[in-house]
Amino acid sequence: MVLNAETISQQSLPRHIAIIMDGNGRWAQSRNRPRTYGHKKGVDSVRNAVQFCSKLGVESLTLFAFSSENWRRPEDEVSTLMELFLLVLTKEVKKLHKNNVKLAVIGDLERFPSSLQERVGAAHQLTSENTGLKLNVAANYGGRWDITQAAQKLAKQVADGTLAPEQITEEELSKNLTMANQSELDLLIRTGGDYRISNFLLWQAAYAELYFTDTLWPDFNDEAFAEAIACYVSRERRFGCTGDQIKQLLAAPKITS
Ligand code: IPE
Ligand code: IPE
Ligand code: MG
Repeated sequence: MVLNAETISQQSLPRHIAIIMDGNGRWAQSRNRPRTYGHKKGVDSVRNAVQFCSKLGVESLTLFAFSSENWRRPEDEVSTLMELFLLVLTKEVKKLHKNNVKLAVIGDLERFPSSLQERVGAAHQLTSENTGLKLNVAANYGGRWDITQAAQKLAKQVADGTLAPEQITEEELSKNLTMANQSELDLLIRTGGDYRISNFLLWQAAYAELYFTDTLWPDFNDEAFAEAIACYVSRERRFGCTGDQIKQLLAAPKITS
């Protein structure tokens, strides 16, 4: 079967993709540069991935930018990451807004400097009505934290008498997780060669396809992303499709289902 814009239907593409963007440090170290250089390069890959998903008509893209465990890194690396985050929020948000992207920073933001929290609030507000790609950036995020904060919300309702313990169902808990109103996670990608989830989307990944690649995050370009999607489509539909065919879709994104 020939796969093209007609035969790969929008239904067979992932609606919600998440990425553990790993390998920035090793990418820089292999070039005898400081790890922080890799993080700066990683921002280019983020920009690219967002464009890729927008063009392909993906509904949600969730990126793991900073885990709750990443605070354990050397102080100068953490502060460079914070500065980069602030810079991106300042410089890129207008562009995202122009491209109709709806931005949500998910995670426990209380530990961040107040300047950063304010920027996040402003970015949410600016893009809240947008109807294009939903871009979720996970910062100080942990899958266990997400489930815990949902449990706390439910516990409060029980304490208030507005919810009975028997009413705590999977569905009810799901509704209290971050990203509750978005599509189910279809595809979870991890770059950088490791085979673990590192406390990312634990609940949401229950039925997601997992895709691991050795490619380091700064090298994760359109080719690499198209390969990942082709692999997903092939697994789902049980027939082979190539990265090239997915890339053709970028030029003709209006796919009928
Ligand atoms: C991922 O790259 C980015 C963040 C965790 C912020 P790493 O910094 O973990 O890079 P490696 O895994 O050490 O190469
Ligand atoms: C996972 O990468 C977190 C992010 C990509 C933000 P890490 O490099 O921190 O993961 P571990 O510690 O190796 O599992
Ligand atoms: Mg790493």
